[in-house]
Amino acid sequence: MVQSAFHIGSAEFKNRVLVASGTFGYGDECTDAVDISRLGGIITKSLSMKPRDGNPPPRIVETTGGMLNSIGLANIGVHRFIAEKLPFLRTVEVTLIVNIAASTVDEYCAVVDLLEGEDGIDGYEINISCPNVKEGGLNFGTNCQMTAEITRRVRARTKRPLFIKLTPNVTHIADFARAAADEGADAVSVMNTLIGMAINARTRRPILSTVTGGLSGPAVKPVALAKVYEASRAVKIPVIGIGGITCGVDAIEFLLAGAIAVQVGTANFLDPAAGVRIAGEMTAFCEEQKVADMSTLVGALDARTGVSVLDSWL
Ligand SMILES: Cc1cc2nc3c(=O)[nH]c(=O)nc-3n(C[C@H](O)[C@H](O)[C@H](O)COP(=O)(O)O)c2cc1C
Repeated sequence: MVQSAFHIGSAEFKNRVLVASGTFGYGDECTDAVDISRLGGIITKSLSMKPRDGNPPPRIVETTGGMLNSIGLANIGVHRFIAEKLPFLRTVEVTLIVNIAASTVDEYCAVVDLLEGEDGIDGYEINISCPNVKEGGLNFGTNCQMTAEITRRVRARTKRPLFIKLTPNVTHIADFARAAADEGADAVSVMNTLIGMAINARTRRPILSTVTGGLSGPAVKPVALAKVYEASRAVKIPVIGIGGITCGVDAIEFLLAGAIAVQVGTANFLDPAAGVRIAGEMTAFCEEQKVADMSTLVGALDARTGVSVLDSWL
């Protein structure tokens, strides 16, 4: 029996695979395709105070080894989430992390205040890293002072576990992980999408209505591994690894790079049961490798010292 459960503060996770925000709806849509109680956890689509329509289509395009999206945080808003989604989610034995997006720091706080009155929520993930919105989004996530302020202000309002979701679209993600850790975050989620672009050469037009979007899927995995490695060496709080994971060995690589657990995103669009499958594959890998406890893999990368350029950044 391989030990894979872990916890971050009061949030208990039965295995190390969570589904990533924006790729699994609100958790209630895929119940025909997968037993969601077998996931380590569910991260909801980003919720804002008011419902959002998001960006006009086209807002998704397939690219080589990846997917480019400019959804723009379309969501039903926190009030409808509480009224329509939470009652079902409370009946499922799965750890629930609510992801929050906002255009102002006050909005993040107001959404948290509303959710604090509700039970059945195990923690929050604060999205300061969406590349597809004009206000908030990357303006927060690429500014260390804003990262610190949002973490501080939200931290003051909740004792629930607090994850800050970081963007890779910065030079030194270590600085942002430190800003979140210093202000009391319980974990950082690394990473959101990379800014990308797709062009139709014949029409000479960008394919996405917003010209640029967020790149995800297998194409981003090497970048995500490097960002997890960098962030995890900069802070003592847990790092949750995200980016291009499609199989158990991918997830194990993230653990070795320093992640306590992983989130699976784009892979859910191919198969909503990807997260459960990947959790099983991680266990099978550990059995094969005679690893009794997955926590022993976290940060266990056998890197030769002095060969990473990251060393000069930290
Ligand atoms: C269609 C789509 C929508 C997304 N929406 C959100 C979102 O609302 N909030 C968020 O924090 N991340 C969002 N993400 C980012 C994912 O949670 C994840 O960080 C990213 O896709 C990298 O992981 P992956 O390569 O496994 O997909 C979205 C990603 C995709 C592909």
